[in-house]
Amino acid sequence: MPSLTPKPILFDCDPGIDDAFAIAMAYASTSISIEAVTTTYGNVGLDNTTNNALRVLEWLGCDAPVYVGVPGALLTETVDASGYHGVSGLEAPGIPEPTRKPEALGAIPFLVDHLRSVDEPRTIVATGPLTNLAMALQLAPDIADKIEQVVFMGGSTDFGNDSPAAEFNMMSDPHAAQIVLTSGVATVMFGLNVTHQVIATPARIDALRSITNSAGPVFADMLDFFSAIYIERYGFDGPVLHDPCTVAWLLQPELFATENMRVDVDTAQGLSYGRSVHDRWGIAGLTQNCEVAMNADVDGFFELLSDLIGRLK
Ligand code: RIB
Ligand code: CA
Repeated sequence: MPSLTPKPILFDCDPGIDDAFAIAMAYASTSISIEAVTTTYGNVGLDNTTNNALRVLEWLGCDAPVYVGVPGALLTETVDASGYHGVSGLEAPGIPEPTRKPEALGAIPFLVDHLRSVDEPRTIVATGPLTNLAMALQLAPDIADKIEQVVFMGGSTDFGNDSPAAEFNMMSDPHAAQIVLTSGVATVMFGLNVTHQVIATPARIDALRSITNSAGPVFADMLDFFSAIYIERYGFDGPVLHDPCTVAWLLQPELFATENMRVDVDTAQGLSYGRSVHDRWGIAGLTQNCEVAMNADVDGFFELLSDLIGRLK
């Protein structure tokens, strides 16, 4: 008998158009609830990702507190993805500026204090660079026992997007990703190999636009903006919904085929810097540390997305 009490999750993100979709899906669901949001640099700078998180949450009607994370990577320079998401990071005229502020406490002390205080381990959804989580785990390794799993969008078993070899979130801070992957915490990875299957084609965008609430057309408009680079650079017939794959798996894991593997991150400068390296056959003899999504039921994903967006105001 499934629990009637929604499962609290922590959300670490860099909104970000696809991050906004993931937040909305989590908020609309009845089986999980957003306990708190921590923001990170990533798609755009920290001030904008934090402002965008507040915008989306307030527009949704979600009062989850927002804690501001780190402005840059542990050891390397910070880049952004404003070319995909726009200068603000969330080109969405339908989502107004927020009226509330983030919490005074920073994301790292919040994660440490909160995880130490909870009785039940928490699931963390991470849809940006993993610097916040890595810093919290370095500061307080004991919190690993209070993390049920980190369900993250990052890496790729095949091609990169930020470089030929590396995916943006992972390449933004490969050292942080390696710290999280080798922390002993259970991880579930949604890399480009699977997220690039989840393409919002014109028909799927039209389905969102036809939802008779205010949210549907707003999300459809965001996808129209998000389309350009995916059509031009990748030749796809629409934008990719990377981050929402994490929440979709939490809600309906049967939508994805996964395999347990050993995953490490290349932190050496060079062609493969920031690449996730997947030991699918156990060749290195290292402990498996990641459940890696390999295939998606794309129609099932968009049915879930439309259902959830349809529940919003
Ligand atoms: O590579 C895709 C990832 O980078 C997504 O999380 C997107 O929001 C950007 O952060
Ligand atoms: Ca993101």
